[in-house]
Amino acid sequence: MKLSQDQIEQFDRDGYLFFPALFSPEEVAPLVEEVPRLYAQQRPENIREKDSDSVRTNFAAHMYSAPFARLARHPRMIEPVRQLLDDDVYMHQFKINGKMAFDGDVWQWHQDYGTWLNDDQMPTPRAMNIAIFLDEVNEFNGPLIFIPGSHKMGALEAGHDTRTTSYPLWTISNDNIRHLVSHGGGLVAPKGPAGSLLMFHSCLVHASTSNLSPWNRVSVYLSLCAVQNHIRRFKRPGYIAHRDFTPITPLPDDCLVNPYPVDLPWKDGTPPAEQQGLQQAA
Ligand code: SIN
Ligand code: MN
Repeated sequence: MKLSQDQIEQFDRDGYLFFPALFSPEEVAPLVEEVPRLYAQQRPENIREKDSDSVRTNFAAHMYSAPFARLARHPRMIEPVRQLLDDDVYMHQFKINGKMAFDGDVWQWHQDYGTWLNDDQMPTPRAMNIAIFLDEVNEFNGPLIFIPGSHKMGALEAGHDTRTTSYPLWTISNDNIRHLVSHGGGLVAPKGPAGSLLMFHSCLVHASTSNLSPWNRVSVYLSLCAVQNHIRRFKRPGYIAHRDFTPITPLPDDCLVNPYPVDLPWKDGTPPAEQQGLQQAA
């Protein structure tokens, strides 16, 4: 999949592109089926919500689940990101966020690059976020909210919030959000069926509210980083911030419906060295 000049200009202006129903129901089905099995596992990669057993986020499924390993190499994502970053890309982070019915908690206002800079020493924002909806996203189940154009501000001042949710995040103050929203950005919350894809800049400011609805809002997030821009610090566990900077080779376009062979190096468990932060830098 190649982006048109119009799409490139739109991405540059707004900081995101939305592709409703980019993947068909047949392509999404094997991913949806796999999620309960992954969430039921007792693995360090499953981070649960503060006040319930519901999974908030599952990390690195592409290392131990065949359907997600194939998704991680899908040309409909890898090719446009390579086009925009003008480099080969590697997987910096891979997560499946639950935002489960009734239990899914908020994601505070943040830029992903804030965390990648402060925790992982990623040199520049030459990295891209992709969200793939595995459930319909509607106005009730906690859609992602963007401030269009906010990526133009670069890395904003952020504070480390270790209290609000079960997952620490570098968050942006309410005063800064008020300023960004009222000075032209406004707010958008792209909604669509399962199989929709969002591509967004690593400096785009975003958040999502809790899910009070009876519908899960499971979404997969790939964070793809330009190989030359790899992280320099390994403070976080390897399953959260990957240390393998090998460029991703895309599979054929039908890889979600045909069982192409994929390596699953963590299928028998997470290697101990990947479960902790390291002093050693890259
Ligand atoms: C994120 O920003 O990393 C996740 C937000 C969400 O899943 O709503
Ligand atoms: Mn984020």
